[in-house]
Amino acid sequence: MRSAILGVGSYVPTKVVTNDDLAKMMSTSDEWIYTRSGIRERRFIEESGIGASDLAVPASKMAMERAGVTADEVDAIVFATLSPDYNFPGGGCFLGDKLGMNGKCALDVRNQCSGFLYGLSVADAWVRVGMYKNVLVVGSEVHSTGVEFTDRGRAVSVLFGDGAGAVIVGPSKGENHGILSLNLHADGVGAKDLWCEAPASAIDPRLSPEMLAEGRHYPQMVGKKVFRWAVEKMPAAANEALSDAGLTIDDVDLFVPHQANMRINQMVASNMGFDDDRVVHNIENYGNTTAATIPMALDAAIGDGRLKDGTTVLFSAFGSGFTWAGGVVRF
Ligand code: UT7
Repeated sequence: MRSAILGVGSYVPTKVVTNDDLAKMMSTSDEWIYTRSGIRERRFIEESGIGASDLAVPASKMAMERAGVTADEVDAIVFATLSPDYNFPGGGCFLGDKLGMNGKCALDVRNQCSGFLYGLSVADAWVRVGMYKNVLVVGSEVHSTGVEFTDRGRAVSVLFGDGAGAVIVGPSKGENHGILSLNLHADGVGAKDLWCEAPASAIDPRLSPEMLAEGRHYPQMVGKKVFRWAVEKMPAAANEALSDAGLTIDDVDLFVPHQANMRINQMVASNMGFDDDRVVHNIENYGNTTAATIPMALDAAIGDGRLKDGTTVLFSAFGSGFTWAGGVVRF
């Protein structure tokens, strides 16, 4: 038995932050940000107190409604985030409580930009072996409280935005419908090339005034190295997914890559032979929303009419870990 994505939802906070807004806080410009990354604006939470699990609530409800299932009919949550509301417990527990899914399985996934595809693979396996019938897979991030809006932090803080996306994974409706392949990869050789060190259980104390002063609680990235890995690993994961599904590029209706940088995605898509109308880009309006990106992009493609029943979608993601993943899903 195959599993399938039965419903998709997304949610972004209402506060729009443009590149010009950021340029008032640090030495940057719309020109630098747009030219390097393709980002024009992103969304931030409206006020302190809104966590990734809060953004996930409306996204999850939309996914459930579109799948035609109620919270009672969902057996488990897989919650992918690098920005959980609190250090522990995981965001899945908070989300389950907010959705009234008390007592149901809630698993958090910590695989950053690949987190949604990692989470999808867990749901896929659960459904295929019959352990659960309907699984809610969520990617949700609040980056705006975790990056540094100063000259020191500008290389990272201009890239990220807040948002949530969700899908319901359940039994497929036929042989040609559903998750056709998924592949997952990681290489810790790059673990410290895109990471957030503190609070660190490997360090005693986990967080000190010195660490705060040095900004070690903010994400750090060796951008050029991450870029080089991304342009190699994203097509590799996509091609592996196609080959595992027995498909070629010509069979793909829509390519939905993770959105870390418009330049990465244009390079990957054109090297693979995709014309622009078969590629989903949403980075311009939302920035990099890490685990939320792919389900948010799916919802955007439903909105613009490109994702319908029967559409074959190719996924590819790369990010911190390093982790990368690919997949093919027929809707
Ligand atoms: O989602 C996870 C995966 N992440 C990625 O895939 C990201 C991959 N990397 C990238 O997308 C690019 O490396 C960036 C967009 C992050 C940066 O582009 P870059 O061309 O690699 O720039 P750079 O980091 O080499 O910085 C170039 C210059 C530096 O100044 P100098 O040393 O040349 O004088 C930076 O200090 O730009 C400066 N700079 C900025 N200037 C204005 C860095 N950040 C900013 C900024 N505004 N926000």
